[in-house]
Amino acid sequence: MPLPPESDLQRWLDSATEAALAAGAVLQHHWGNLTTIDEKGRSGDLVTEADREAENAVMAVLERHVPANHGILAEESGAVRDQASGLLWAIDPLDGTTNYTHQYPFCAVSIGLLAEGEPVLGVIYDPIHRDLFRAAKSLGATLNRRPIQVSTTDQLAQSLLVTGFAYDRRETPDNNYAEFCHFTHLTQGVRRGGAAAIDLAYVACGRLDGYWERGLSPWDITAGVAIVREAGGQVTGYDGAPLDVMSGRLLATNGHIHQTMSQTLGKITPLVLPALT
Ligand code: IPD
Ligand code: CA
Ligand code: CA
Repeated sequence: MPLPPESDLQRWLDSATEAALAAGAVLQHHWGNLTTIDEKGRSGDLVTEADREAENAVMAVLERHVPANHGILAEESGAVRDQASGLLWAIDPLDGTTNYTHQYPFCAVSIGLLAEGEPVLGVIYDPIHRDLFRAAKSLGATLNRRPIQVSTTDQLAQSLLVTGFAYDRRETPDNNYAEFCHFTHLTQGVRRGGAAAIDLAYVACGRLDGYWERGLSPWDITAGVAIVREAGGQVTGYDGAPLDVMSGRLLATNGHIHQTMSQTLGKITPLVLPALT
């Protein structure tokens, strides 16, 4: 499928922005004022009325503005439309729910568009800092309407990285603990932000130099991948192979430290923690 024309991408970028700002207003409204915090199955995987209402706000805008043959995959309601057109919207109404419930101020609305599985457009809105990250293929990447670029750091020893730990970390040896130790040792530091969309947005604007994580869903990363790439960064699988957004695993960097990070990830063996009583 050819890339949608620029005029369509620009229009859908504006619709996604309207949707992200509407959901952001919901998140601002409920901040510090939640009445329901439920677990979705796995321990620690939370959902609140803010997640649900923010998703409704996104859907209301997209249903008004995007063609009926676009697929929509939204975290809280699942696949709500099928994707005959090859275009699929991936929506996380609140990325960083755990942070949100603790009023730890790192969370975002993330709205991305996949064309035949490739991220081509993204909007990430952080309603606490009021940071709006946007990009669409060939149209550039911006933060609050100003162009952004990835950092120029080319040495791992001078880099600041970020990662995260999936909700299944206690059930799998593929828990990312060994990777976290190694990169902490080799860099100026590794942050654990707690919101994949913000992690990617911060790589895009150069606040961070690289990000890796596993156990992610398409709604966590589609928007962020589009934004990092348009800001000049590189996003692949851990091994440097083309990204598969359905694999849940990605390495996103400023490009300069990509190969070194990929090689390092390839050498690490899992760290299984003994049970503590
Ligand atoms: C989570 C966040 C977190 C990542 C998890 C995601 P949620 O999304 O992005 O940083 O480590 O894997 O599931 O549940 O807050 O939308
Ligand atoms: Ca998420
Ligand atoms: Ca979420």
